[in-house]
Amino acid sequence: MSAPFPLDLPATTAVYLCLYVVTLALHVVFMSYSLGGACYLALAALRKGGTVSPCERTARGVLVDWLPFSLGLTITAGVGPLLFVQILYEKAFYTANLLLFYRWMMIVPVLIVGFYLLYLIKSDYAQARPWLWRGACIGAFLCFAFVAWSWTENHLLSTDPRAWPEMYEQRRVVYASPLLMPRLGMWFFGTWPVMAAAVAWQLRAAESRGQSVPDREFVRLGRVALIGLVFGGACALGYAMRAGGQVTAVLNKSSLWLHVSMLVLGVAAMLVVWIRCLTGKGRRPAIRPLIAGTLASILASGAIRESLRVEQVDMAALMSHHSRALQAGGHVVFGIAFLVNALVIAYALTLAAKAVRGTTKADEIATEES
Ligand code: HEM
Repeated sequence: MSAPFPLDLPATTAVYLCLYVVTLALHVVFMSYSLGGACYLALAALRKGGTVSPCERTARGVLVDWLPFSLGLTITAGVGPLLFVQILYEKAFYTANLLLFYRWMMIVPVLIVGFYLLYLIKSDYAQARPWLWRGACIGAFLCFAFVAWSWTENHLLSTDPRAWPEMYEQRRVVYASPLLMPRLGMWFFGTWPVMAAAVAWQLRAAESRGQSVPDREFVRLGRVALIGLVFGGACALGYAMRAGGQVTAVLNKSSLWLHVSMLVLGVAAMLVVWIRCLTGKGRRPAIRPLIAGTLASILASGAIRESLRVEQVDMAALMSHHSRALQAGGHVVFGIAFLVNALVIAYALTLAAKAVRGTTKADEIATEES
């Protein structure tokens, strides 16, 4: 039996693949919160009679409050995998970027518009104008959906070199592929259970600080998570069928047994937790297995995704580049910068935790006095 992926590859390539998969997983966590959360708000905005200033003890209230921050984290966490994907695949990634040209660069202004719309949703000004609030929710979601479509399109184009000459000759900046819709659907619905787990964790944290959260909030999140798992799974199946035998051949590789088992267990954990919550066996989702299952699924599916690409791209030619990149130097400077940044982030987190504890204490005193 071969070593688990990517340890079955030369050491330097394996190092970069590990770094890529782990950093991409972090991006996917925040990206799911942003895309899935904006979709949740957009769907709520389309419902007749729904409130436009949701209370902070509801899923909608939490999302309105936290989406601007989570979008910042999504973008920041995108930088790590962006660095590693360029080292790993070089020509394939750059060629897709260049062919998509201004259509690819549009993700920057679109993200800026989405960012400001999230702040508008949070403002009293928009909450006093329901039409504006609803429009901003739908607009923000459309911006992030466009960005997701762009990344998926770029990924598929980068692994289809036969399409490059035609795209270039015809000056086309949109790449059409039968794989696009099922792959985008897989990502789109896949964000729902991740977002639901994160928001459930935030609501449980609010409860532990003494706030009361209505049961229906967890029920709604559970429904969203289960719909996302079912439809995301269906799109994954559709993708595998359209890709021919490619996906099944990769999934059957012995180097992936650990990842496939981790994915199955992760999804099973999510299903069990939410079904128990919806059927009233546990009024609250069990947060630890839910978060563990979610993270395991993200990591395992990221590794499987990469194993598929390694089969499609001519890796033999790239492996010598990977070892050259690792010997390029700068490790000490990187180590120092890493340490300093880790310390600054840890300090910022302790400050934030202190501020939350302070607010909770102030709330408790105010409640006692009233
Ligand atoms: C709301 C904003 C964003 C959304 C919704 C989003 C969505 C996505 C999706 C759906 C994928 C997977 C594509 C696929 O496998 O088909 C992806 C991959 C990726 N994203 Fe994001 N993304 C966002 C912002 C960003 C930003 C700002 C960066 C960079 C700073 C970034 C960096 C990456 C990288 C490097 C990958 C992997 C690309 C590859 O392996 O081919 N993302 N993103």
